[in-house]
Amino acid sequence: MMINSENTPLIHRSDYQPLAYRITEIALDVHLDPENTEVSARLHFLRQNPEPVKEIHLDGEGLELLEIRRDGQLLSENSYVVNGAGLTLLNPEADFVLETRVRIHPAANSALSGLYHAGGQFLTQCEAEGFRRITYYQDRPDCLAKFTVTLHGPKDTCPVLLANGNCVAQGEDAQGFHWARWEDPYPKPAYLFAMVGGDLAAMRDTFTTQSGRQVALEIYVAERDLGACSQAMESLKRAMRWDEEVYGREYDLDRYMIVATDSFNMGAMENKGLNIFNSKYVLASPETATDTDYQGIESVIAHEYFHNWTGNRVTLRDWFQLSLKEGLTVFRDQEFSADMNSRGVQRIGDVRRLRAAQFPEDAGPLAHPVRPDAYSEINNFYTATVYEKGAELVRMLHTLLGKEGFRRGTDLYFERHDGHAVTIEDFVEALEDANHTDLSRFRTWYAQAGTPLVKAQGVYDPKAHTYTLTLSQSTPATPGQAHKEPVPIPVRMALINTQGEKTALDSRGDREKVLVLEEATQTWTFTEQPDPVIPSLLRGFSAPVRLENPLDDQSRSFLACVDDDPFNRWESTQELALQALLAGTQNPGTVQHFPDALERALAATLQDGAMDPAFRAELLSLPSEDYVGEQMAVIAVDAIHQARDALLSQIGHHFHDTWLNLYHDLAGAYARDGLSIGRRRLRNMALSYLVYSDRHREDDMTLHARQQYVQADNMTDRLAAFQLLVQHPLHDAEDILMDFYQKWQDYPLVIDKWFAIQAMAPRADALRHVQHLLVHSAFDWKVPNRVRAVLGAFTVNHTVFHAADGSGYAFFAEQIRRLDDINPQTAARLATPLSRWQRYDEVRQKAMIQALQLLAAKPHLSRDLAEVIQRAYPSGA
Ligand code: TRP
Ligand code: ZN
Repeated sequence: MMINSENTPLIHRSDYQPLAYRITEIALDVHLDPENTEVSARLHFLRQNPEPVKEIHLDGEGLELLEIRRDGQLLSENSYVVNGAGLTLLNPEADFVLETRVRIHPAANSALSGLYHAGGQFLTQCEAEGFRRITYYQDRPDCLAKFTVTLHGPKDTCPVLLANGNCVAQGEDAQGFHWARWEDPYPKPAYLFAMVGGDLAAMRDTFTTQSGRQVALEIYVAERDLGACSQAMESLKRAMRWDEEVYGREYDLDRYMIVATDSFNMGAMENKGLNIFNSKYVLASPETATDTDYQGIESVIAHEYFHNWTGNRVTLRDWFQLSLKEGLTVFRDQEFSADMNSRGVQRIGDVRRLRAAQFPEDAGPLAHPVRPDAYSEINNFYTATVYEKGAELVRMLHTLLGKEGFRRGTDLYFERHDGHAVTIEDFVEALEDANHTDLSRFRTWYAQAGTPLVKAQGVYDPKAHTYTLTLSQSTPATPGQAHKEPVPIPVRMALINTQGEKTALDSRGDREKVLVLEEATQTWTFTEQPDPVIPSLLRGFSAPVRLENPLDDQSRSFLACVDDDPFNRWESTQELALQALLAGTQNPGTVQHFPDALERALAATLQDGAMDPAFRAELLSLPSEDYVGEQMAVIAVDAIHQARDALLSQIGHHFHDTWLNLYHDLAGAYARDGLSIGRRRLRNMALSYLVYSDRHREDDMTLHARQQYVQADNMTDRLAAFQLLVQHPLHDAEDILMDFYQKWQDYPLVIDKWFAIQAMAPRADALRHVQHLLVHSAFDWKVPNRVRAVLGAFTVNHTVFHAADGSGYAFFAEQIRRLDDINPQTAARLATPLSRWQRYDEVRQKAMIQALQLLAAKPHLSRDLAEVIQRAYPSGA
């Protein structure tokens, strides 16, 4: 593959050098204008060592330098050098003040990094390296400075001017312009800087901290969306209380602001005191947002709030430490959601996400350790490995140290490192020191990529009354890491007897234990087991590993009915369904075999009306096509799709009357409590199975879906019906598509769903349909949510994206080429499914490589996309 290696120079973790100069203070003066914004900066430099240095490098990208002064004097041309990467000051003094004035162009900034103008607002996104697109600076997370910002803007289009911290002064400029000055008392890295200008309304509330301080809470949105902020506001208050109760952490400023925008590269950003959010994670009303959307808001609001301590007060030394804040903060938001909702259902969802995104990443060419060793473009490392696997590592530490031990560790971590830029090593050391324990072997988890495989072997001795369990581990090689060490794997376990009870595992009578598998192979013997037992292993998914536990279908079916660990109960059913689906892929086209063991497990769940309906719905859902594919040597795209469809219709048909009763019984008035949400989820699942059952019957269950679509008073029910109708391979849903669009055309988040559901429809003419979506008047290449709704959704429409003739890949590569000129971050992220080419048959492999080559040959390839292609297909062409 012909990628110029100048595009992908590597930055290595081992090359870290401390700053020669600190910047103690920065004062910015910004004149907002969509076309030409002027930014004046005053930086106080302070040398860290007595020895003089030859030069200081300041990062800067796309800046037009208008003026530069040192200690008030205009700088002569021979005392600095400017190029595409920034500005180098030659022979600097021990301390000095640097003043620069630059011009930038927010309206032309479609990359949405730095200062941009979108939807009539000025917004910033500085993580990871966006601040250098605003002014010349040492744009690295270990450079902590006190920020003051004065924003100037037109009163009519920018009545609201916001930045981090406290508003300390405001006033009028000449005709129609005004200004506001903001001061952030907490020194911070530039990636946490933010400013906003626009015509925004605020929903306001207050929160009283545990020490009795009042904090003003403000959520800024367009005036018409004021009524859709209450889920965000309530979630924020719950998160603030939870962090006080569980971690002893209180908010530290007098004001906490959140701004919502439709134009955003990711979910949200934790800028100090001024979070900026994708509106998807702020706005919700029952008519426009699904229960899943509400849940997403709760967790992302909490996530960004929790960063105030894990990320902001204690920040990163360098970007290789990214998981120090992201892994820890994801763990914190997962635990928050588990405490607010159902713990078991939360854990199942977390593991689903881990397996869907992180396991494949860890098994492919983009695999990297939670703490990477090298990168070309840091934006490519905001990955499932850094976030989700990082959270699993923190969860294992929590399991190993226990709740109290973990809290002692985080207390010490905050106490030691508040106000500092630190490393993952500092975190692990704080946990060790607070607990007088040694975590040396655990560190391997941070350094080693790849998902360990754990094999279990159990033997019951009816004479000796013992159960002997042997566990062994191995981790497959990953790019650049051929040899793997064993890691300490906490395996939470129980033994379950024929009555379905957990037996005593030791003389203390404990019925659950955490075994720590540290070596390649270890054996444990449990004595005084008078009856045969079945092992329930990796309860709660206590480690991010693949487990091979050779149980027969009987035992699995038994565990699916009796295991009191919700995760493992779910896992047993999933495993039965997975085996049925894998068997189905062997004989595509023949009638699906519906195994008894699976039938029994599903029947038990269907009959158990006392069970939490949300958990019941989890137990009744089949593994995704992705998950099935992951378990195969070669992913058989079409066979998997057919097998899954066939099993869905079998289950629908077999339990038809039960589904129909459930569908009717679960109807109820709309409410937002957990029980109502679970009931909706289960009811919509019943509807889905009913529609699938049509293939075996004379009925037309799409009539129920049509009726539900028309009569629904909330988006959860309406969208569930809409999706069934639009994605039905035979049903004509043109009228429904039109109706939906007409009703919701003024609601961008709802129209995103309209696009995505069509792009995911596995219909015969799907590719042509997606081509039409791209030229629809509501499609917009500059809005990442909209682009993801079509192109992101397209990549999970497996039979179409992976069409054997390569048409899906070729189409997709064309679109990514186009997007790369507009928004490289989003283009690179969307392109990653092409990296999985090794997992498909030869014909598809060829076509995927061809698509990668088409991308590699693009003129002006971004560093973001270049790195993804380079790593996806390193062997060259
Ligand atoms: N730090 C943010 C979070 O996880 C995410 C983030 C990183 C981000 N880079 C970004 C958001 C770029 C938007 C754009 O909470
Ligand atoms: Zn985060």
